[in-house]
This record gives sequence, structure tokens and C-alpha cells, in this order.
Amino acid sequence: MDKHDLYELCVQSVDHLAPLLRAIHGGSPRMLGEDFAGTAALSRRWCEAIDGGSAVAVDLDTDTLAKHPDAPGVTRLEADVRFANTPADVLFVGNFSIGYLHTRGELIEYLRHARSRLTPGGVFVCDTYGGDSAFIPGAVHRPHPIPKALDGVGGRICRYTWEQRDADPLTGMVTNAIHFRVDHCGDIVEEMLDAFVYEWRLWSVPELRDAMGEAGLAQTDVYAGLADAVDDEGNAYVTPVEDPDELDESFIVLVAGRA
Ligand SMILES: C[S@@+](CC[C@H](N)C(=O)[O-])C[C@H]1O[C@@H](n2cnc3c(N)ncnc32)[C@H](O)[C@@H]1O
Repeated sequence: MDKHDLYELCVQSVDHLAPLLRAIHGGSPRMLGEDFAGTAALSRRWCEAIDGGSAVAVDLDTDTLAKHPDAPGVTRLEADVRFANTPADVLFVGNFSIGYLHTRGELIEYLRHARSRLTPGGVFVCDTYGGDSAFIPGAVHRPHPIPKALDGVGGRICRYTWEQRDADPLTGMVTNAIHFRVDHCGDIVEEMLDAFVYEWRLWSVPELRDAMGEAGLAQTDVYAGLADAVDDEGNAYVTPVEDPDELDESFIVLVAGRA
């Protein structure tokens, strides 16, 4: 068990995300592009869930991308996302990674390139967070039971912390860190502090929509309440947010853009 296993356990919920992205696309998408893919967890799930599905996972980091080398249907591309040229029905950027693009110029250039990779009817989707606490330093903690299949032990809990360490509302820059503590019967048996540290520009929803529009993704929609949007059978039901009252005081949303 390494920090990537714990990241997949505590941070990602690809079982929900794959059907959500299909529903946001609205048709029968087959080809996923996962940019800033990390361990390509979404790509793997996509190919398992979709008949004839394929995915291209793009990341700069060789070791992270190599974590699961033999995933049927998944092509791993070690590259800067700005130079990836593979086509996609759905092109996804997750866990706030759009914030690696620090300036508006970089953002628009990337979005233009992303648009050029979309197949007809294709959609680009990224996530962001906002609301009351967006620029307030602080931390949230969540316990996650570790399945025996993952650690070979069973009964242990991963205590996950998401920390917003610094946040500057004048520049939009934030520093976020992820920490893991493995708890066995009340004792911390392993600690991974600063397992991941990110320096991001926190793009607001209207900034993303404006930039998408300028990059030729003229129709933009925002999706919220995502945890409740997938039923037990894995069917997703999504409708775009039309009224700001539908958003929580602090929120995470998906922003989708189509040509
Ligand atoms: C926050 S992780 C995202 C993991 C996963 N996509 C998710 O949704 O949780 C960000 C990843 O982006 C990669 N990355 C950062 N800048 C990149 C770039 N310009 N091109 C490709 N990958 C990049 C990092 O190596 C890291 O693995």
C-alpha cells in the first residue's frame, strides 16, 4: 500500500464518476481522455464499465502512470497535457487539476487544444470548488476503512486530511496538501504527511465558463449534488444547475463545455 493506493481510496470515487460523465455527455461515449490522470483510476473504471470503451490517460509523472500497467483498454501517455493529441468523446480533468494552469492565457490555450481533441458531440469536463470557504485556510478530516484486499491486514482505517494551507484571494493561488494516517485499533501505525502538495490557481465557475467560451466551447453547464446523482445500479441522472440556491455554501461542481 503506497500513497497512490490511499489517494484512490480516500479521494477518488470513480464508480460514480464514470456514469456521471456518460450522463453529462448525453449520448453513448466510448472514448475517454483523462488528462492529469495520476494512476489512471478513472480510465480503468471507464473501460471496465463501458462495452467497447477505451481511454487515454495522460500524465507527466512516469511512476504514477506506471502504477497499474496492465489495464485492458487503457493507453497510458507520458506527456504534458498541452501536447497530447488523442481524440476523446469525453475529456476529463479531475481533482482540481485544471488549477495547474496558473494564468488565463495558459488556461485558454489548453482549453482550445482540448476542444480540438473532442469528437463531434464531445464534451470537456473539469471540476472546481468555490463558495464561502474557498479562500479560507483550514482542513477537513475523513476516516476511510481500508479493505483487506488493499492492505492484506483488514480492520485498519485511513484517516485522510485535506488541508488548504494557504489561499490568496488576490491572486487566486492556493496551496493544498493531503495527509494520510493509518490507524490500527486506535494506534497510528503509519503516517504520510504532505503525501501530496499542490500549488494551484483556484479558478471560479464564471472564470472557467468565460475561458471555455473564448476557447470555442460555447455551451457550458454546471453540475452539482453529484454524490446523489447515481443510483445503486450505477445509473446517473444529471441536470445542470440553473439557480445558485441549488449550490451549498461551499461546493464542488463539474463544469462542462461543448463546441
Ligand atoms: C491531482 S493529481 C490528479 C489525479 C487524478 N486525475 C484525480 O482526478 O484525482 C494531478 C496529476 O497531474 C499531473 N500533472 C501536473 N501537470 C501536468 C501536465 N502539465 N501534464 C500532464 N500531467 C500533469 C501530476 O503529475 C499529477 O499526477
